[in-house]
Amino acid sequence: MSLSKGDRYKLHIDELKHTVKSMGISVIVASNPRNPTGQVIKGKELEELVELGREGTTVVLDEFYSWYQYDPELKGKSVSAAEYIDDVNKDPFILIDGLTKNHRLPGWRVCWVVGPKQLIKALGQSGSYLDGGASHPTQIAAIPLLEPKRVQQDKEALQRCFLEKRNHALKRLEEIGLSVDVPPQATFYIWLDLSGLPEPLNSGLTFFEECLKEKTIVVPGIFFDVNPSHRRNLFHSPCGHYVRLSFGPTMQELDRGLDGIQRLVERARASYAKDGHVKGTVGGYKQSGEEDKSAGRLDARASGS
Ligand SMILES: Cc1ncc(COP(=O)(O)O)c(C=O)c1O
Repeated sequence: MSLSKGDRYKLHIDELKHTVKSMGISVIVASNPRNPTGQVIKGKELEELVELGREGTTVVLDEFYSWYQYDPELKGKSVSAAEYIDDVNKDPFILIDGLTKNHRLPGWRVCWVVGPKQLIKALGQSGSYLDGGASHPTQIAAIPLLEPKRVQQDKEALQRCFLEKRNHALKRLEEIGLSVDVPPQATFYIWLDLSGLPEPLNSGLTFFEECLKEKTIVVPGIFFDVNPSHRRNLFHSPCGHYVRLSFGPTMQELDRGLDGIQRLVERARASYAKDGHVKGTVGGYKQSGEEDKSAGRLDARASGS
């Protein structure tokens, strides 16, 4: 389903129910909280999603960012559909989590799945045929990290630290003139709309390239287009004027990146005000058919992403 900024990227359960019924959908796969918009389904709506599962649709939820919550009501808490599941062996719900985000241990490659026993058995069997599963030493080392008291302490510390970085990044972006209309309620990402910037900096790809020159990395929005190959022209992607920023790094690193963005935006605005266009950028990615070598570069990159 496509979610819109005007609607604050809200997933309406009624609409989802309608789509599931009208299209005969048997499995829903989603991340909750969501990368890249940082929005989350919680409370009554999450309960309704679990109900939808009971009506015959399997729901697979990736809960990797479940600890990163910024709603003051969720202080010290995480969001998980597990709260609403009555019988793990009967409710058709599959929950996925791991050490990469909540525990901030990406190199450990340990993740887990909660779901009906038979499904877990099948997953375990296919996992062992495919790659043998997570390494035994890392699984053993992960056990103390899951001890409830430690989990609670880690969660609280993480929320304190990331709330500060989130607010700091949002404030600085606003000062730069890039206010975020739909701030993240969860995750450590900001889905940044560039459409107010002068061309060609309002394109996520150009912005990304110009940021690299400032030793700052962002992710072009079109990399999050779930169906890029179905578009006649990638420039029509609803994600084209966006980039995703991460406030995962330390405050110092975050400021270095934001300083880079500030320099870039100030330079572009000054150039636009003086000459009516932005000088010195990569030239802008053109739509296919137009004469610009960079269009070929876009095609190559998009197909490789
Ligand atoms: C929704 C979601 N789930 C899981 C992951 C973790 O992936 P990995 O452990 O491969 O880094 C990510 C990473 O970006 C993610 O965005």
